[in-house]
This record gives sequence, structure tokens and C-alpha cells, in this order.
Amino acid sequence: MLPGKRRTTIMSLAAAVFGAVMLQSVSSQNEPTIASSEHTTLPSDSYSPPITLQCNLSSAHGAHEESFWMKNGEEIEETRTANRNTEYKLVKPRGDDAASYMCVYTFETAPPANATIEVKAAPDITGHKRSENKNEGQRAVLYCKSVGFPYPNWTWRKLDSGAFMDIDNSSGRFSVSNKDNYTELRIDNLDISLDPGEYQCNATNMIGTASITSILRVRSHLAPLWPLLGVLAEVIILVVIIVVYEKRKKPDDIQDDDEPAGPMKTNSTNNHKDKNLRQRNTN
Ligand SMILES: *[C@@H]1O[C@H](CO)[C@@H](O)[C@H](O)[C@H]1NC(C)=O
Ligand SMILES: *[C@@H]1O[C@H](CO)[C@@H](O)[C@H](O)[C@H]1NC(C)=O
Ligand SMILES: *[C@@H]1O[C@H](CO)[C@@H](O)[C@H](O)[C@H]1NC(C)=O
Ligand SMILES: *[C@@H]1O[C@H](CO)[C@@H](O)[C@H](O)[C@H]1NC(C)=O
Ligand SMILES: *[C@@H]1O[C@H](CO)[C@@H](O)[C@H](O)[C@H]1NC(C)=O
Ligand SMILES: *[C@@H]1O[C@H](CO)[C@@H](O)[C@H](O)[C@H]1NC(C)=O
Repeated sequence: MLPGKRRTTIMSLAAAVFGAVMLQSVSSQNEPTIASSEHTTLPSDSYSPPITLQCNLSSAHGAHEESFWMKNGEEIEETRTANRNTEYKLVKPRGDDAASYMCVYTFETAPPANATIEVKAAPDITGHKRSENKNEGQRAVLYCKSVGFPYPNWTWRKLDSGAFMDIDNSSGRFSVSNKDNYTELRIDNLDISLDPGEYQCNATNMIGTASITSILRVRSHLAPLWPLLGVLAEVIILVVIIVVYEKRKKPDDIQDDDEPAGPMKTNSTNNHKDKNLRQRNTN
């Protein structure tokens, strides 16, 4: 039997050797590390100075092949380089430069490594439908799109006695679909008494908020017939005028024809007046 002191020494020696082996196996995996720029936020009411996004590959297993930059998950063209340090410049940063940027390094014998840099900005609505004109029973589609990052939460409201209120969807005719920087409000089977008015889309993210309104007009489904109805009405009025005129004219003509033969029932001055009137009317 070994004395107690020696036993502990051997055991701690074994532990130390074991630890060293463990350490070596970890360091041989040697995870790549990338030093990257901080996340930034663009000012919402003033121009931003140029921004340079940087990534430095500081340690890696074996040689890397190359690196490139991505914006919102898509490779940015002409950013491939073989350098360990890589930059991407936003010369005049604007709303549509706000995005999630990523530098990606590829390796011959290992999976790619990457780092993410977020450039945030308040939403700014850059496109919408000013107005939509539809017939009742049809479908209306309003939309808004934005720049800014992170992608906003979208909501739609309707102007109701002076204030924008949540849309009443009790009829189930409203549907909203959102995709990142785009929102669409669809109204089916338009109701001429309920649906016309002002609709507002609202984009809100952690940095700020923006909203804009669209006008929906709903016409009666008789509307396309109106010009035709107008012509028809004109024709009817003309016919009525002619008929009335002819009816009024006939008794007079008969009277005129009868005048010499018939007895002088009417006052001659009265007859004169009538003729004058008729002449004036035809003028
Ligand atoms: C990357 O390396 C360059 C040059 O050494 C240095 O100026 C820069 O600050 C580094 N960037 C980061 C994000 O570490
Ligand atoms: C970035 O790295 C993570 C793991 O760190 C990986 O899951 C992801 O797929 C990588 N993305 C790209 C675009 O290479
Ligand atoms: C909106 O996002 C899509 C991809 O989600 C992108 O292609 C498009 O450029 C973006 N538009 C704006 C104005 O940011
Ligand atoms: C409105 O109701 C319909 C039917 O219940 C539903 O499918 C739709 O998603 C609703 N729309 C909104 C904006 O809540
Ligand atoms: C956006 O909506 C999600 C889910 O409803 C919520 O967790 C988040 O806080 C909202 N973000 C903002 C900026 O309102
Ligand atoms: C958008 O909606 C949010 C939440 O209701 C509100 O706080 C914000 O003021 C609205 N933004 C605009 C520009 O109206």
C-alpha cells in the first residue's frame, strides 16, 4: 500500500495529464473567431455620416478561402476577397441601407463562419396606394411598403368619426397579409354603405413608427351604366317634350282650321295672344 501523500500526488498528476489531453483536443478544433463592428442605428431626422462595417478573422483552423458580405440573407455582389480583414462601406446611409448585414468566411476543410452586424432604422413608408376606386361587390386591395430595420409590425385602421379605429371585421371580409417590409389589406365583396373611407397602415419597430392613409371609394354597380342611362333619360325627355308639344298644338290647329267656318266662340284678342305665345315658344 502506498502512503496517503504519494497516492494523492499520483492522482493529481493523472488529472493534470488528462486535462492537458482534453485541452489539446479542444484547441485542435480551434473555432474561428471573427471580430466585427458594433450594431448601429441610423438617425431618423438627419443625414448619417458614412458607415464602415468591418470583420476581422482573428483565429481559424487552417487557411480560409475567401469572404463575402450578405444583406438580409442575400449575397452582395463584388464583395468577395481573400483578405482576413474585410469592410463594407455605406457611403450615404439611407433608410433602405438599414438591414441585417453578415460577413461570411469560407474554409477549405470546415464549414463557413459568419458574424452579423445590424444597421437599424425607424420605418419609413416608401410606397402605398393613394386611392382605390372599385364597384360594390368587387375586391379592394390596399398596400404599404417600407424601408427600415428590423422589419416593422404592421397594423391597419379605418377613419371612423374623426379617429382611426381598429377595423371591424365582424363580416369577415377583411384580410391582412404581411411580408417583412410589405403589408396588404384586402376587402372582399365591397359594401357601398360600410366600406368607403380612409384607411391607415401603421409600421412600428423598436426604433420608431410611421403611418400613411389611403382612400377607398366604392361606386354603385350601376355606375358603369350611368352614361347610358343619361342618354336614355335625354331621349325620354325629348320624346315627352315632342308629345306634349304636339298635343298642345293639335287642338289649336283644328281650331284654326275651323275658325272661318265655326261660330266665333273665342275672343279674337285671346286667340291672338295664344298665337304670339306659340311663336315665342318656338323661337
Ligand atoms: C479590424 O482590423 C483593423 C486593422 O487592424 C482595425 O483597424 C479594426 O479596428 C478592426 N476591426 C474590428 C471590428 O475589430
Ligand atoms: C452563420 O453561422 C451559423 C452558425 O454560427 C450558421 O447556423 C448559419 O447557417 C450561418 N449562416 C450563413 C449564411 O452562413
Ligand atoms: C423589401 O424586402 C424585400 C425582401 O424581403 C427586398 O427585396 C426589397 O428590396 C425590400 N424593399 C425595400 C424597399 O426595402
Ligand atoms: C377577418 O375575418 C376572417 C374570417 O373570420 C378571417 O379569415 C380574417 O383573417 C380576418 N381578418 C382580420 C384582419 O382579422
Ligand atoms: C411586434 O409584434 C410582436 C408579436 O406580436 C411583439 O412581440 C413585438 O414586441 C412587437 N414589436 C414592436 C416593436 O411593437
Ligand atoms: C402606430 O401604432 C402604434 C401602436 O398603436 C402607435 O403607438 C403609433 O403612434 C402609431 N404610429 C403612427 C405614426 O400613427
